[in-house]
Amino acid sequence: MLDGKRILLIIGGGIAAFKSLDLIRRLRERGASVTPVLTRAGEEFVTPLSASALASEKVYRDLFDLTDEAEMGHIELSRAADLVVVAPATADLMAKMAGGHANDLASTLLMATDKRVLIAPAMNVRMWEHPATQRNLATLLGDGILCVGPDEGDMACGEHGPGRMSEPLAIVEAVEQALATGPLQGKHVIVTSGPTHEPIDPVRYIANRSSGTQGTAIARALAALGADVTFVTGPASVAPPQGVRVVPVQTASEMEAAVKAALPADAAVFAAAVADWRVADASARKIKKEGKGLPTLQFAENPDILAGVAGLKKDRPALVVGFAAETDDVVANATAKRERKGCDWVVANDVRPETGIMGGTENTVTLVTAEGAENWPRLGKDKVAERLATRIAEALD
Ligand code: C5P
Repeated sequence: MLDGKRILLIIGGGIAAFKSLDLIRRLRERGASVTPVLTRAGEEFVTPLSASALASEKVYRDLFDLTDEAEMGHIELSRAADLVVVAPATADLMAKMAGGHANDLASTLLMATDKRVLIAPAMNVRMWEHPATQRNLATLLGDGILCVGPDEGDMACGEHGPGRMSEPLAIVEAVEQALATGPLQGKHVIVTSGPTHEPIDPVRYIANRSSGTQGTAIARALAALGADVTFVTGPASVAPPQGVRVVPVQTASEMEAAVKAALPADAAVFAAAVADWRVADASARKIKKEGKGLPTLQFAENPDILAGVAGLKKDRPALVVGFAAETDDVVANATAKRERKGCDWVVANDVRPETGIMGGTENTVTLVTAEGAENWPRLGKDKVAERLATRIAEALD
């Protein structure tokens, strides 16, 4: 439910804007109030009259509308809401947001707001896949902008692929998630996830096996409890969760820098399978097969990100959680690892191939804390995540 929540809905100029009228209804059905803002292009697709009739509120359109300024200035308008939703978020609006432009009412509100922003992109498939749009998306996700969709399917322009705006009910769900209140409200949690890729040359790399499934589920579960999550992820094979600040990285060194830049935090969960070594002098050019026989690779040790953060004097999160993927003596090894790394908890899992845990959907974990080892039953990775998130909330209380 969204009782009493105030949504500022920016409607951009795209054919999907007609769905935003239904979105207004759906949000209001759940108890939210909606203040619509139409961009100039948005007005070509839906009329201010229909938006204001459905919202039962005044529609804002122009930055230089003095009546609006007399009633409520653009700064105030951008902050009176609990959440700013941009639907449809066109390629142009995303570019403006990523570039920090403020040359009309919508972009100025987006620059001035101190609230979370959720975008629902909608555009032609080629525009969505264009490197510029993908670059802008990465910038926006890194800035903590939340994103729902786009969906894949037939488009109004006759093409097929990703670019359709999410259905109103999916956007409502993302809104509910973004406004989730819970025991971790106001807490910042860093989660590392996925493998790291350490380049040998521009086309080859070494890596650990990791799908990123468990780390992703943990970030999602923490966000569902209201945490502000910074999700630092290597190249994982699962999509990052909604409602978190995503920082994509490739190497362990980049992961370490991203984690340090995200501090301070109340808790940090290190679920990434970080490569222990990198190639000391990765070649800037592809190493040729022909000629000089087998190449010799010199390795250098990667920073231990978990141990580094656990050992911080200043800015150490109150709770530091490490993972231990073990094939033998799981509890003994995890207990030793907890001591060695200086972290508060270790989540240990048995990754012998016959367990099917690596890349699978279930996990059997042992939580090792200062009080000892606790065996959890075999659970879906999402259930393990929810249980861990609940324990983190209790520990930070
Ligand atoms: O030493 P080991 O790799 O087994 O430790 C696993 C734990 O340490 C995991 O929580 C992992 O995310 C973290 N780690 C790290 N940086 C490294 C190696 C491991 O943060 N370079």
